[in-house]
Amino acid sequence: MKTKELINTVSQLFAGDKGLLAMDESTATCNKRFEEAGIPQTIEYRRAYREMIVTTPGFGKYISGAILYDETIYQATKDGKLFIDILKEAGIVPGIKVDEGTMDLAGFPGEKITMGLDGLKDRLAKYYELGARFAKWRAVITIGSVIPTRGCIEANMHALARYAAMCQEAGIVPIVEPEVLMDGAHNLKKCFDVTQKVQHVLFDQLFAQNVNLQGVILKPNMVLPGSSSPKQADIDTVAEATVTCLLESVPAAVPGIAFLSGGQSPETATAHLNAMHVKYRGKLPWALTFSFARAIQQPALDVWKGKDENVKAAQQLLLKRASLDDAARRGQYNPAMEKE
Ligand code: 13P
Repeated sequence: MKTKELINTVSQLFAGDKGLLAMDESTATCNKRFEEAGIPQTIEYRRAYREMIVTTPGFGKYISGAILYDETIYQATKDGKLFIDILKEAGIVPGIKVDEGTMDLAGFPGEKITMGLDGLKDRLAKYYELGARFAKWRAVITIGSVIPTRGCIEANMHALARYAAMCQEAGIVPIVEPEVLMDGAHNLKKCFDVTQKVQHVLFDQLFAQNVNLQGVILKPNMVLPGSSSPKQADIDTVAEATVTCLLESVPAAVPGIAFLSGGQSPETATAHLNAMHVKYRGKLPWALTFSFARAIQQPALDVWKGKDENVKAAQQLLLKRASLDDAARRGQYNPAMEKE
């Protein structure tokens, strides 16, 4: 195993107060976001959107790694420069989403299994060749009255561990993302219990598959009440529940944790990360940062609208969100900064 290389990549990804940008929406997800924003859903618009993102001036000051999608990793700017080269020049490590999405889990109504292990070894070798040094695989866990089931959690965490082992063999740092969805009316305690259970099974499976924890990044959900729960939680309660859950589940050998935003507003996701640092800075065994997609991209997407004349304004919004998330990693974010 290329342990040194893996550890070196992890330290680049957690350098300073930086974090990751997820820009790895599948074609279907990207088209859905475009449709909502009134943007034509074509390969050229997707390319132009990703060009707008990767060419954001100064992005490398706050963003250490960008997760790409298969379509995007081969794409280039209008002038013919590969996105992957632009990222590298900006000091941003290129990463790649390698799962192939979810399908219904046979025998478990209402639950999903993530696909993509078949042929993964060859795809990883190809992505390494192209310059990707880390990867992402997302497992989806839904909370309902009788779910998640043990069968669903075990199948998904096993797949995550097999993926992680294959990545490490290829010299690629695996981001393991077990996402407990916000959808539902459940309370915060329910999310805490499910998230903890999922993480316990995940680390059990990572041990069983001989994954080196020093070369892994965990990408978890924050612990939140369901989005339609009548009882929402304040910022500090979420921060405390999230860190407590992680302390009870995640071994100290894991170097870093990078949160997904999961449908939280950009301001809320930033405030939660900030509150964790205010309360626990210097007291945690692992680094805590962001790996947001929507919570970084959404304001910029709304302004861009598929038009060249909006590129600059959209890039300013991307840079602003990234800088606020970077401040949150220092515990120095303040909602008043949103207006500056
Ligand atoms: P969100 O931050 O929009 O949840 O996306 C993160 C991600 O990478 C989902 O897989």
